[in-house]
Amino acid sequence: MQTITITGGQTLHGQIRPAGAKNSVLPLLAATLLCGAPCRLCGVPRLADVDTSLALLRAVGAKAVRKGADICTQPAAPEVLCGEIPEALAGAMRSSVFYLAPLLCRAGSVRLPLPGGCRLGPRPVDIHLAGLAAMGAQVELEGEAVMLRRLGPLRGVDFTLRLPSVGATITLLLAACCAQGTTVLRGAACEPEVCDLAGFLRACGAQITGAGTPVIVVQGRRALGGVSYTPLPDRIAAATYAAALAAAGGQVAVTGCLPQYYGAFLHFLQDCGVQIEPDGDTVRLARDPARPLRGGQQLFANAWPAFATDTAPLAAAVLLRADAPSEIYDHLFADRFACAAGFAAMGAVCTAAGRRLTIAGGARLHGAAVTAPDLRGGAALAVAALAAEGTTQLRDPGHIRRGYADLPGDLAALGAVCRAAAG
Ligand code: EPU
Repeated sequence: MQTITITGGQTLHGQIRPAGAKNSVLPLLAATLLCGAPCRLCGVPRLADVDTSLALLRAVGAKAVRKGADICTQPAAPEVLCGEIPEALAGAMRSSVFYLAPLLCRAGSVRLPLPGGCRLGPRPVDIHLAGLAAMGAQVELEGEAVMLRRLGPLRGVDFTLRLPSVGATITLLLAACCAQGTTVLRGAACEPEVCDLAGFLRACGAQITGAGTPVIVVQGRRALGGVSYTPLPDRIAAATYAAALAAAGGQVAVTGCLPQYYGAFLHFLQDCGVQIEPDGDTVRLARDPARPLRGGQQLFANAWPAFATDTAPLAAAVLLRADAPSEIYDHLFADRFACAAGFAAMGAVCTAAGRRLTIAGGARLHGAAVTAPDLRGGAALAVAALAAEGTTQLRDPGHIRRGYADLPGDLAALGAVCRAAAG
């Protein structure tokens, strides 16, 4: 358990660059299992989920090592790969699901115990399984684990996802690269991280068109080589720094991340009264802390390009002190707002009812002892603490380090009074 201590009331100044995106890096690490030559992923942040992925790759027989900021992988022959994903690694992160397709294709079978990750409500894997079954996989549920086998190669299919799941699109894109013939994925997720995976796979020799649109077409069975690849910058980390500036006031430049990757969030901050000045891949943000933020916001989190669900708790943290009530509705996850209890402990008046969070606004926040309920909820509590009077003790049972290499260090570098200690 780490405790992050934040004393609010300091404005933020300076510039900050988000690291490579967690939600790009994690599928890319799984995708390296399909490559017949060494790969290098450049600028990979030291996240707990990256460490878990490296442990998982090694557990199934692959070779992956960190070299400074990069991760280098070696190709693994099918006979050295094992399709048994250890329970502790599967349960440590949601992204263990990204190993289903590569291990099924390369090792011939895979057993995945229930994937872990943030508890945001039910997170079934039915679309992953339905797509793989349509490609010819035999799917069996064994208690809390899923077992997949294939007798011959997977077949290309024309498959419609019942909703644009990011994870299922990634699974089926990976499987389609190994399947015989053409796969058409309809109703696919369009998130930038899906495009990034397609970019990586194309650079390795895959033939993929339409990534970033709802219809992706893959010509399968191309031998994939290796590549040196730099993942996208983390748009959710960029939004986190922008939210921190909005809560605390000051002047901050977020560099190295195109504003269109978190455009909906920047638009929201502008509506609240934050000055936003985009300049290439830099966004300069400014806010006078003496002037209240504008509330009265109605936000709907949904799949790309809508307002991102991962930024919904961050938006809530910004709105707690705004001058009028606001409401946020999350279409994707049934329990996105577990952070509301922490906000309330800090003096906010807000109610989470299922997918809806209602925020009264006008709160005078004070420091409190709170606990990170999940990754983005934990980051949102840190953002709220920047605007609170007094000191907040944010206990983190390991969620925040799954997505930010050093959030307390990042905030302190911008001038926040913030430090982390074990225990
Ligand atoms: N869903 C199903 N069946 C499926 C797959 C998804 O019903 O087979 C439902 C989910 O239950 C959820 C909705 O579809 O209600 C959206 O889930 P999706 O599959 O799109 O999300 P994910 O792949 O589980 C990724 C990110 C999340 C991010 C979401 C939405 C990773 C590792 N995780 O999750 O990131 O919130 O997409 O953009 O890529 C985070 O970084 O903190 C995080 C939770």
